[in-house]
This record gives sequence, structure tokens and C-alpha cells, in this order.
Amino acid sequence: MKANIARLVALAATNTLASQPLVDVRESFSSTVQPECKCYPGDPCWPSTAEWTTLNRTVGSRLVRAIPPGAVCYDSFEGTPTKNPSKCVEVASQWSNASWTADQAVIPMIPLWSNSTCEPNTATGQPGPPAGCPDVCSIGFLSQYAILANSADDVVAGVNFARNKKLRLIIRNTGHCFMGRYLTKDLGYGALVINTHRLNSIKFESKCSLCDGHSSGVVKVGAGVMFQDVYAEAWPRNLDVLGGECPTVGIAGGFVQGGGQGPLSGHYGVGSDHAISFDAVLANGEVVTADAKKNADLFWALKGGGMGTFAVVTSVTLKTYPTMPVTGMGLTITDTGDRFWEGVRIWHTMAPTYTAAGMYVWYAMQEGSLIAQPFVAPNMTTQQFNAVVDPLLERLRGANINFTTTEVKTFPKFGDLYQDMWYNAFHGSGLGAYFGGRMISQQDVKKRGNDIVAAFRKMSDKYPGQVLFGGHLVNPGNKVKDPEQKLSAVHPVWRDTADIQIFLYLPPPCMSPQQRTEAERRVTTELGGILRAVTPKSAVYSNEGDVNEPNWQDAFWGPVYPRVLRIKKKYDPDDVFWSKSSTGSEGWALQNNLKLCKVT
Ligand SMILES: Cc1cc2nc3c(=O)[nH]c(=O)nc-3n(C[C@H](O)[C@H](O)[C@H](O)COP(=O)(O)OP(=O)(O)OC[C@H]3O[C@@H](n4cnc5c(N)ncnc54)[C@H](O)[C@@H]3O)c2cc1C
Ligand SMILES: *[C@@H]1O[C@H](CO)[C@@H](O)[C@H](O)[C@H]1NC(C)=O
Ligand SMILES: *[C@@H]1O[C@H](CO)[C@@H](O)[C@H](O)[C@H]1NC(C)=O
Ligand SMILES: *[C@@H]1O[C@H](CO)[C@@H](O)[C@H](O)[C@H]1NC(C)=O
Ligand SMILES: *[C@@H]1O[C@H](CO)[C@@H](O)[C@H](O)[C@H]1NC(C)=O
Ligand SMILES: *[C@@H]1O[C@H](CO)[C@@H](O)[C@H](O)[C@H]1NC(C)=O
Repeated sequence: MKANIARLVALAATNTLASQPLVDVRESFSSTVQPECKCYPGDPCWPSTAEWTTLNRTVGSRLVRAIPPGAVCYDSFEGTPTKNPSKCVEVASQWSNASWTADQAVIPMIPLWSNSTCEPNTATGQPGPPAGCPDVCSIGFLSQYAILANSADDVVAGVNFARNKKLRLIIRNTGHCFMGRYLTKDLGYGALVINTHRLNSIKFESKCSLCDGHSSGVVKVGAGVMFQDVYAEAWPRNLDVLGGECPTVGIAGGFVQGGGQGPLSGHYGVGSDHAISFDAVLANGEVVTADAKKNADLFWALKGGGMGTFAVVTSVTLKTYPTMPVTGMGLTITDTGDRFWEGVRIWHTMAPTYTAAGMYVWYAMQEGSLIAQPFVAPNMTTQQFNAVVDPLLERLRGANINFTTTEVKTFPKFGDLYQDMWYNAFHGSGLGAYFGGRMISQQDVKKRGNDIVAAFRKMSDKYPGQVLFGGHLVNPGNKVKDPEQKLSAVHPVWRDTADIQIFLYLPPPCMSPQQRTEAERRVTTELGGILRAVTPKSAVYSNEGDVNEPNWQDAFWGPVYPRVLRIKKKYDPDDVFWSKSSTGSEGWALQNNLKLCKVT
């Protein structure tokens, strides 16, 4: 409580309105011995207005003071009147538009990570908070300053400023990280954000000198480019790029740095396997290239070894492939009680047969409803597809499960299937959910498949109506093996997965700090615990899990962790970059829900 008050005062002190409470803040901190911390508003080390102005000039006036976009739906923000009913209608209508959210300076796609601050009332579009939430617009857990970087030079200026001033630095691209890696609790507070989403160049090249026999060219994409941007350019050229399924996720940011899986992974492997070069800004401000010849250790680490922690990536060059035909189908199981879960059991325990054929199955599931749409079968004919999927359908019929399928269709290329068949109800922003997940291995599904589905049911029964599941039945190790982890710095389970699984827990809206703690306990300990117990030979995808995962180093990276940690320490010895539950973050922790400080 005391920390919260001090923090509010500190916040006010950074505004022009209040200067005298500053003294109280400093006294309350100087009375206790502080470990080494990042520098926060109210601290003597906090940059002066003149210094912020100089930074702003250096980055071509692209430094913004972050105002939550929903402020137009509230009377005021930090003492300044903000209400604007017509703009409020617009913000409310865009709140679930993920492209719009990606364009914002600091807000996350999942608002609970910003403390649900200044949310518009999407039900009415009228000024005022969502039902049951406080009628107050505050900074919440958001950062106050963001550089909307237009070039590597802007990034360099931001890194140098944050390093010299010891500010917490956040790299924000689309804000899609649903784990809340950069905002959890108060982690956004007092940070300088480098927003990379405007680095959006895309350049195809037919030749590649570093590609080792790969003959079909490459594409160099800026750090802000989203799957939908690169797909829109690649497909008309009859090229595939290994991205993921959500159109608005950035390809060079969290995706490649966490590994990355997609609909063609059963054929082409892990997303990061296809990176052949990065341009990046190091913690010391140096602009470097990392590839197989230059900074080879950094190159390897950036391929799956941790997001937001080694450097700011400004662009990545990825291999492209000629398109191939793809067959697909949708499956829906709508049933009740035991029969529903029996249908899920039949479908899920057969995952190894789909993945061994190079297939990928996207799904969303909650008690009573499984939507597996689509099954994606790269380079398979309808006949080959049916040979794999008919046994599943026969077993479902035999068990008298209520299900439907869509017509099996073959398309000349993946892009056509994507546009025709994808179930895209989950591509929006603004969802109020906590996430957990597990990369369930082939081994675990083969040995304990029934127990795993029983665990899904147990999780669902624990908080009826509040637990949802999603996932991807795919094995990126199906064709691309990497026994010595030379290709990518990912957990070896990546090459032996049956289901890259996600679960969601829906908490109450605008939680109090106590409700938040309780919700996080339910996700990490209860729901996560049920799943962990039945999947001992599995791991967690560092982008699709619980940010509070216990022993996250092992769960996310396993045996590669010591090596990626050494590389982190080499390139960023002073922890200029820090990202929760990402490589090298264990040296710092949040103190009093207020400041990020070195663990002593
Ligand atoms: C609807 C939805 C669908 C998804 N589908 C898939 C999928 O099909 N396959 C898949 O693999 N993943 C998928 N994801 C997960 C996605 O890969 C991660 O959320 C990823 O971290 C998002 O990266 P971003 O750069 O777009 O987002 P951000 O939230 O902006 O960034 C994520 C993390 O990467 C860091 N980062 C961002 N840019 C840089 C940079 N330039 N340099 C250094 N660090 C950086 C950030 O600091 C942060 O820690 C999906 C997510 C959503 C919300
Ligand atoms: C940076 O400069 C621009 C242009 O003068 C201005 O609009 C913006 O508010 C400035 N940013 C900050 C944080 O003062
Ligand atoms: C979603 O946001 C994008 C980016 O701001 C915009 O171009 C698009 O028109 C929006 N879509 C809708 C349906 O409003
Ligand atoms: C977060 O939201 C809760 C509930 O509205 C509130 O009690 C708490 O003070 C907020 N914290 C911050 C830092 O905004
Ligand atoms: C069977 O499935 C259909 C279509 O998916 C659905 O409308 C119907 O309600 C289901 N019946 C039962 C008993 O769940
Ligand atoms: C697709 O299959 C055909 C024949 O079955 C094969 O010749 C071709 O190499 C395959 N394409 C890819 C990209 O694997």
C-alpha cells in the first residue's frame, strides 16, 4: 500500500503540476538501504525534462508520452481532461482489432497485463468504464515513454539513453505476447519502450550466399513486419515463408526469438531454423550483423534462445520456399459430458498419426465443443489425406460421437487454404484471459494419452466455464531433426511434439491486486500443476505458456539454457535488456511491486 502511494506521488512528480511531493518520495526511499535498481520516476537519477527533450530531438521527434488510448472515454488522465465521446466510440470499436492494437505505442493485446486500465466500454461505446470497473483512467502498469522507431539509429539512441540512465528498457513490437512478458505486475512502470513496429520493410532476393545449397531465395523483413504483411507479398510470388497462424503476430520479434511454429512446421521445422541473418543493436549501442560467419553465437541464440534479451533485432532474413499443394478439412465435435470427452480422447490420442504425416491441426476447445479447423496437410493429395484421417472419423462414428466435418479440399498453395478455411475467431485483441500451456511430447501422448485428456477435463471441471484450450497438433521435428541443437537454440522437445498446447483461464474483470494473485495461483499452481503432472517428458513453448512457469529456464529451454545464458552475459553483461522469464532474467526481481532491482 505504502509503495503504491509512493508510486502515485512519484508519477505525479514527473508531471509539471506537482513538484513538492517529490521530497516525500525521496525520503521514503533513502531511509532504507536499496540494492542496485533500475532508475524510476522520482529517483535523483531520473532524466530531466531537458534530457528527454534531447532524446526526442535525436529520434526525430518520435518520442511519445504514452497516454492510454482509452483515456478519451474517461474524464481525465493525470489531471488533464481527456473525454471525447466521438473518439471513444472509435476506440471502443477498434478494441478487438489486433492490427489497431499492434499500431499503438505501448498497450498490450491482453489488457489485464496493463492492469485493465482505461478500457473502453465495448458493450456501449459510450464514455465510462466497462461494467463493474472503476471510473478512473491511470497509467496502470504501462510505460510512460516510447520511441516509435523508424530506423536502426532511433533504436541505437534509445538503447544508449536507457543504458546511460539505467532505465528499464522494453522492446515492444505488436504487443501480442499474451504471456505479459514485458508488463506483468508493474514491470512496465518507469520503462522506456522502444517500439519496433514501424520497421516494416520487406525485400525478396532470389540469391543467398550464406544459404548452403538452399536455392529458392530469401526475404529480409524489418522487425515490425507481421505475418499478414509478409504472406501478402510472398504468396503472389508463389513462395512460402515459415510463419505462424495469427495474421498480426510479428515475425522477427517474439516469434523467431522464441522458436516459432506454424502450419508448415511438420514439413519445414521450427520458424527460427529458417533465419539466415539478423541485423541487431547490441546493449553497447553497436549495430551488428549476426549470421553463420559473423557473431555466430549471437546468431544461434537469437534463433529461439529468448525474446527481448540479447539485442534489439532490427531485421531478419528468412529462407523462402516454392509453394506446394496443401489439403485441409475442418472437424467439429459438439457433444455433452462423457461423450464429448471420449471424442476428444479419440482425436487427441491419434495426434502422432497426423504429425507423422507432416500435418498440423489448429484447435480451440472448451467443455462441449471442439473446433479443429483446419487440419493442414502440406504436399498431400485428398487421397493421402483421407488415408490418415478416415480411421479417426470411423472411430468417432463407432463411439457414437456427435461430430461434423467440412469437405476435404486440396489447394494449389497454403495461402489459398488459409484464406478459405481458417477459423479466425481468436485473432482479435482485448481478451481478458490468463494463459498457460505445454508442448506435449510424442512420448507423453503415446504413453499417457488418455491421462492427458483426463487432465484437460479435470482442468475444465475445476473452474467451469472459465477454462478454455487451444493448440496445434504438429511436430516441427517430423522432418527437420537437429539432435545437437545446431540449427536453433530451442528445447529438444520442439523436435518431438504432438501438441503445442495453450490453456486460458478467464478471471473476473478489473481485478484487485488480491484477485490477481489468486488468479495467477490458479493458473500456475492448480491448472498448470494438473497438466505438468501428466506430461513429465514435455516442455513449454516460451511464447505460449505461463509467464510464472516454475523452473522456467528448464521448462522453456532445457539443456540449451546454460549456453544461451553464457551468450546473454557476453553480449549484455550489465542487463540493459531484461524480459521476464526470458534468458538471463533471474538476476533481477521486482521489489515492493515497484522497482526492478538486482537480486543480491
Ligand atoms: C492470436 C495469436 C496467435 C499466435 N499464433 C502463433 C503461431 O501460430 N505460432 C507461434 O509460434 N506463435 C504464435 N503466437 C505467439 C507469438 O509468437 C508471440 O506472442 C510472440 O512473442 C509475439 O511477438 P511480437 O513481436 O509480435 O509481440 P510483442 O508482444 O511486441 O513482443 C514479444 C516479445 O518479443 C520481444 N521482442 C519483440 N520485438 C523484438 C525485437 N525486435 N528485438 C528483440 N526483442 C523483441 C519483446 O520484448 C517481447 O518480450 C500467437 C499469438 C497470438 C496472440
Ligand atoms: C517530441 O517532439 C514532438 C514534436 O515536437 C512532440 O509532439 C512530442 O510531444 C515530443 N515528445 C515528448 C515526450 O515530449
Ligand atoms: C483495424 O485496424 C487497422 C489498423 O489501424 C485498420 O487499417 C483497419 O481498417 C481496422 N479494421 C476495422 C474493421 O476497423
Ligand atoms: C490496478 O487495478 C486495481 C483494480 O482496479 C487497483 O486496485 C490498483 O490500484 C491498480 N494498480 C495500479 C498500479 O494501477
Ligand atoms: C450435434 O452437433 C450439432 C452440430 O455441430 C449441434 O447443433 C447439436 O446440438 C449437437 N447435438 C448434441 C447432442 O450436442
Ligand atoms: C511433394 O511431393 C512430391 C511427390 O510426392 C515430391 O516430388 C516433392 O518433392 C514434394 N515437395 C516438397 C516441398 O517436399
